Amino acid sequence: MANTALPDRIRRDFPILEREVHGKPLVYLDNAASAQKPLAVIEGQREYLANHHANIHRGAHHLAQWATEAFEGARKKIAAHINAAHAEEIIFTSGSTDAINLVAQSWGRTHLSAGDTVLVTRMEHHANIVPWQMVCESRGAQVIPVNVLPDGVLDLEDFHAALKQYRPKMVAVVHASNTLGTINPVSELCAAAREAGAATLVDGSQALPHFGIDVQSIGSDFYVATAHKAYGPTGLGFLHGRKSMLEAMPPWRGGGEMIRSVSFQGTTYNDLPHKFEAGTPHISGGIAFGLALDWMNAIGMDVIAQHEQVLVQHAHSTLSAVDGVKIIGTAPNKVGVVSLIAEGLHSYDLGTLLDGQGIAVRTGHHCTEPLMDHFGLESGTLRMSFAAYTTTLEIDRATSALERAMRMLR
Ligand code: ALA
Repeated sequence: MANTALPDRIRRDFPILEREVHGKPLVYLDNAASAQKPLAVIEGQREYLANHHANIHRGAHHLAQWATEAFEGARKKIAAHINAAHAEEIIFTSGSTDAINLVAQSWGRTHLSAGDTVLVTRMEHHANIVPWQMVCESRGAQVIPVNVLPDGVLDLEDFHAALKQYRPKMVAVVHASNTLGTINPVSELCAAAREAGAATLVDGSQALPHFGIDVQSIGSDFYVATAHKAYGPTGLGFLHGRKSMLEAMPPWRGGGEMIRSVSFQGTTYNDLPHKFEAGTPHISGGIAFGLALDWMNAIGMDVIAQHEQVLVQHAHSTLSAVDGVKIIGTAPNKVGVVSLIAEGLHSYDLGTLLDGQGIAVRTGHHCTEPLMDHFGLESGTLRMSFAAYTTTLEIDRATSALERAMRMLR
């Protein structure tokens, strides 16, 4: 199938793409914040809630067994999708943020002491900075950022120098930047970190919707992602952890389900993955996420990735031709995320005028304030972010709308 034919085939799966906003057909270019949901996910979640819901793992009845199998089936789908060695290496969380906090609190409190360092990059989302700052503060450790080059590529020289200088205990890097689109060479980074004696965590929030992921070939100790950016529901994500690492870590949250036995003399904890899943999980969300992965895999991650490469190239050439527009993040290896600034204009004003024309974009710092500071971008950027259903025509419409907005504000 030709890459450009993909949206024609799949747009009918997304009822929301038919709607109008402010009397104009919706052009949804805020997929890095959250992707829209295909009917398979919407109807699958509804079907579960309407006809199959019960709590999992503990009921002796038919519905409980059905729900348990469906939820555990979703865990297996995630494991297969990212090529995890074992399904029990997948821990359900409420999202990437929750997964990173789990590692920071469980692994971090056990392994970090005064004087230790955690290496991150200047392009991290706040979710891969703040949890490390919190645990480091409590342990007397420090978070060290690796530099980002002017085109948005990670400064590998600085990365290797920092590994040598700081001998970090943890290297936590984003797989694909939500602001710049840059895809980092995570296999190379994890190998170097391992060689230097550091554990590794990769934040795959913006990778999962865009291309295939193989955690065994990446070689990360921890890999996190969220469902809602990958056509799944909000409030659901996962942590993949190397089994030996997870087994050695203490539980983080206490409660039901994560225990083997409880008494006032002492409590013993459950096996993986349940040790890290206290309380009733987001059952319908897990099942719906499994359906989102099925939906992506029915298309093929390579087909999605190729289509989005066409979109990025088209957006780069169209938008950079607009007088006064500068694209922030021109790495050769990018996902479908294009951030830009327009000379002398505030990105929020532009975003508001685009909204009036039915174009949904995101403006501001995109939860990457240190990156904005690094590039000296006080008002942040205007970000267009793409999905499998985005068309080049939509990018053209957004570009014309941007030109119109710029004329209005000048
Ligand atoms: N982290 C989300 C984004 O990039 C909200 O927009």
